[in-house]
Amino acid sequence: MTPKNLKVIKPEEIRAVMGAFVAGTGLNCMGCHIQGDFASDDKHEKVVARKMLEMVNALNAKSFNGAAKVTCFTCHRGEAHPKTAPDPK
Ligand code: HEC
Ligand code: HEC
Repeated sequence: MTPKNLKVIKPEEIRAVMGAFVAGTGLNCMGCHIQGDFASDDKHEKVVARKMLEMVNALNAKSFNGAAKVTCFTCHRGEAHPKTAPDPK
């Protein structure tokens, strides 16, 4: 199927990037997508994820010579809501 709503990634990157999204954020496919319509932007999480991807790409371009050093996993560690401070001791 030809992708209909890619604004950041290329069609040949879908599989690898979606796999990294799932592993990075702990969300499953339906955490960001609506059943039967992967192109839809109706789900808030998908819109946020695209902004996050743009942020990560900008960070890597500006600070890491374009190498993929910062990933979704860097902050998210497999959770939808990253920690902003360490757990209390
Ligand atoms: C964290 C959110 C997130 C998760 C989890 C996720 N996706 Fe996505 N998906 C996106 C975003 C954002 C885009 C659009 C990327 C862009 O604009 O370049 C996208 C695009 C797609 C597209 C292209 C749709 C089109 O026609 O434009 C497909 C197919 C897709 N995802 C499948 C999957 C599958 C299968 C999974 C589970 C393995 C998955 N996604 C998990 C956020 C997510
Ligand atoms: C610099 C750290 C950082 C990176 C890197 C990062 N995120 Fe996030 N992300 C956050 C923070 C902080 C929040 C807000 C969490 C909250 O509100 O509890 C968030 C929220 C989200 C949410 C919304 C969760 C919700 O339920 O509202 C999604 C989806 C998401 N990120 C996806 C991604 C994806 C996909 C990537 C990789 C492209 C990514 N993030 C990379 C820090 C990051």
